Amino acid sequence: MEQLLPVINKLQEVFIAIGASSDAIQLPQIVAIGTQSSGKSSVLESIVGRDFLPRGTGIVTRRPLILQLIHANPESEEKGYQPEEWGKFLHCDSIFTDFNDIMVEITKETERELGLGKGISSKPIQLKIYSPNVLNLTLVDLPGLTKVPVGDQPPDIEKQIYDLCYEYISNPNSLILAISAANADMATSEAIKLAREVDPTGKRTLAVVTKLDLMDAGTDATDILTGRLIPVKLGIIGVVNRSQQDINVKKSIKIALGDEAIFFQKRYPGLSDRNGIQYLAKTLNKLLLLHIRDCLPELKTRINLKLAYSQQTLATLGVPIIEKGPELLRVITKFAADYCATIEGTHGNIEIAELI
Ligand code: GDP
Ligand code: NA
Ligand code: MG
Repeated sequence: MEQLLPVINKLQEVFIAIGASSDAIQLPQIVAIGTQSSGKSSVLESIVGRDFLPRGTGIVTRRPLILQLIHANPESEEKGYQPEEWGKFLHCDSIFTDFNDIMVEITKETERELGLGKGISSKPIQLKIYSPNVLNLTLVDLPGLTKVPVGDQPPDIEKQIYDLCYEYISNPNSLILAISAANADMATSEAIKLAREVDPTGKRTLAVVTKLDLMDAGTDATDILTGRLIPVKLGIIGVVNRSQQDINVKKSIKIALGDEAIFFQKRYPGLSDRNGIQYLAKTLNKLLLLHIRDCLPELKTRINLKLAYSQQTLATLGVPIIEKGPELLRVITKFAADYCATIEGTHGNIEIAELI
């Protein structure tokens, strides 16, 4: 099943290469929503396992960041020298091997578009990260839901951010990570409220509760984490991210994960194996694979239609005056065949229609 993901990623590249819009094939992606400073960027970053997302108090994330994680192993097709892990933005050609430089570039690119203020833009920053240590996932980090305009924000900032989040999570192929901080009132969670609007049955919403370490003395999150307070079908996973102080002193992710495990063992021993960042990452991967499986029939139909259309277009061209046509078709055909083979290889129970 794991093999499916690189194929889907490649398919997307092919569709983009032939000039179809990138959502011609709607890929599953994980979208984090929540109020400002609830810990969205921290959670996404911990899933990746590297420090590279700007985080902090106040409005830090001001443009959507579409982050495609690509599992690259030593036997990868690309030739020549390869650093172990690297990042590449859509907006520039440089290869980033230092994750701190990636963080700096996200901030720069945000400011290039928006200046130094607190305004937001719906124009996404697109980043690919290649690493042997990541699962193949597409993650989307968004500005936080807010009520009151600050600084140079326009009066309709609440609606602007709401609409932006709405747009990403209403994509039926988005898995929604509805993030709420445990030191705020969970019962009125903006993230869960918004997620329910686009996903009323909760089949693609996973709740994440951050800042368990910051709850008032004497309060306890057991009712939240077990879903007794608000049930969430796919589950509620508690996490402890690094605090601002931890960020300031550059506490490593590894140490933070260890501290998180100790926290759960001490405070929620009965729930410790169903919470934490690592459990969240595992759960996400499982959900994503199930989601892709559910999308396969539809995906196949789309490929068939595209292919039929390309063949038709090609037929009307007669002699291939346009050199590119057959080449593109060859590329699609190859990927369709690979795709088919992968489905066959991993899903004996799925009927394989004639793709090519
Ligand atoms: P975002 O605005 O939702 O993307 O939130 P950030 O990830 O930027 O985090 C906002 C602030 O909250 C940062 O200073 C983080 O260090 C802090 N923070 C996030 N999650 C936790 C947590 O679980 N515990 C603690 N103590 N602080 C957290
Ligand atoms: Na923030
Ligand atoms: Mg953020």
